[in-house]
Parts: sequence; C-alpha cells; structure tokens
Amino acid sequence: MIVLVGGEKGGTGKTTLAVNLAAMRRRAGHDVLLIDADRQASASLWADIRQDDSHAQPVPCVQKRGKGLVADIRDLAARYADVVIDAGGQDSVELRAALTIAHLAVFPIQPSLFDAATLETLAELVAQAQVFNSGLIAAVVINRASTNPRVKEANEAQDLVAAYSDLRLLEALLRDRIVFRRTARDGLCVPEADHRDPAAEAEMDALYLEVFGDSYREVFEDG
Ligand SMILES: Nc1ncnc2c1ncn2[C@@H]1O[C@H](COP(=O)(O)OP(=O)(O)O)[C@@H](O)[C@H]1O
Ligand SMILES: [Mg+2]
Repeated sequence: MIVLVGGEKGGTGKTTLAVNLAAMRRRAGHDVLLIDADRQASASLWADIRQDDSHAQPVPCVQKRGKGLVADIRDLAARYADVVIDAGGQDSVELRAALTIAHLAVFPIQPSLFDAATLETLAELVAQAQVFNSGLIAAVVINRASTNPRVKEANEAQDLVAAYSDLRLLEALLRDRIVFRRTARDGLCVPEADHRDPAAEAEMDALYLEVFGDSYREVFEDG
C-alpha cells in the first residue's frame, strides 16, 4: 500500500506523522519503505538519527525528488509491501506526483491554522490527481488539536471537511503533545519514547489502524 502524508502547508505535521506511520509499520513486522520527497529532508534526517543514535529497528528511507518521482515510487512500491511518502509544500511537484500514484493520501491539518481555503486547495489537488488515479482516497487528519477538552476547534474542522466530497476526515485526532516532538527529534516513534505517554500512543495507534487497517486495504486488494 502506498500512503502519502502530504499537504500544501509547512509545519502541519507531515514528517511527524509519516515517520511514526513508517516506524510503527516496521515494528509490526511489515516491510516498509519511507520515501522522503520533501526538500527539507527531515524524514531522512530522522531515519539517519534512528539508525545511528538509537537502538530502535532502522526504517529504510530514500530521498526522491523531481520529475522521475512517479516512476521511482512505482518501482520501489513493487519491492516493498508498504511505502510511506513524506511530500509537500506549496506548488510541490513531488506532492502532485505522489498524489497520482498513492492509494491513500493523508493531509494533516492544524485546527488553529486552517480554513476553508486550505481545504479548497487540497480538494482541487485531489480532483486533479484522480484524473490519473481514480482510486485515490484522500483524508484530512486533525493534528495538534488543543489538549484542553473545552476547546472545540476539532468540531469546527469536522464541519468544514464535510463540505468536500473528495475529502474525508479521519476519526483519529492527534493533540498537541510534547512526546510527538521529542520522539521525532530522536529518530523514534511515539511508542518508543523514554517517558511513555499513553494518550499520545492511543492517538497514534488510532491513526495507524485507520491507515493500515482493513477498511482501506480491502479496497486495494480487490482492485
Ligand atoms: N501533535 C503534535 N504535537 C506537538 N508537536 C507537534 C505535533 N505534530 C507536529 N509537531 C511539531 O510541529 C513542528 C512541525 O511538524 P512537522 O512534522 O515537521 O511538519 P511538516 O513536515 O508538515 O512541516 C515540529 O516541530 C513537530 O515536532
Ligand atoms: Mg516536513
């Protein structure tokens, strides 16, 4: 399965989610490749730190950019059971390319920063990609929601996403938690934290299960 973690905006959590999904997939015994298609190369840095400075199981990672990206992904996807791609940024060739070949695109969004215009842009990107990739499933996931239960920003986001037929909203919701930052910085994933955070783990598990669980997989294996 080819999973893209993408989006037009920076700082929404693409790399954080991509590296966690890849590491958790690896820990579950699957043959996964992380493709870093972002110029900032933060996913590759994470994979290097993981390999050199941690005792965690390494996650294979390659950097791929530019026009050959679709062919590169197709070739690599044939050699790995699962591929997780970190791609994005405004007018990113890599984001557009990856959307034409991904099975599932996950767009992290921060409730405090996003608006209807962000969703409009994502929905347009998805519609364009679906011309080449009719099976593409695109989903928004709320990241860095407030840990204050009284803040209902997530509900507002839900209402906004409901207006776009090409976008669905994942049930998983990630809140603003230090452990997401610390683990990513140390080349780890959330369940590998020194000081474990059960709430953060439950959120990341929910994301993992929604992405790699049966609901989407059935669609790909039938097709
Ligand atoms: N759920 C979260 N809680 C706390 N910090 C987060 C969370 N998600 C991302 N961050 C932090 O936000 C910053 C941007 O995240 P990053 O994954 O690098 O975004 P992107 O790849 O989209 O630019 C990083 O410092 C990261 O550690
Ligand atoms: Mg990034």
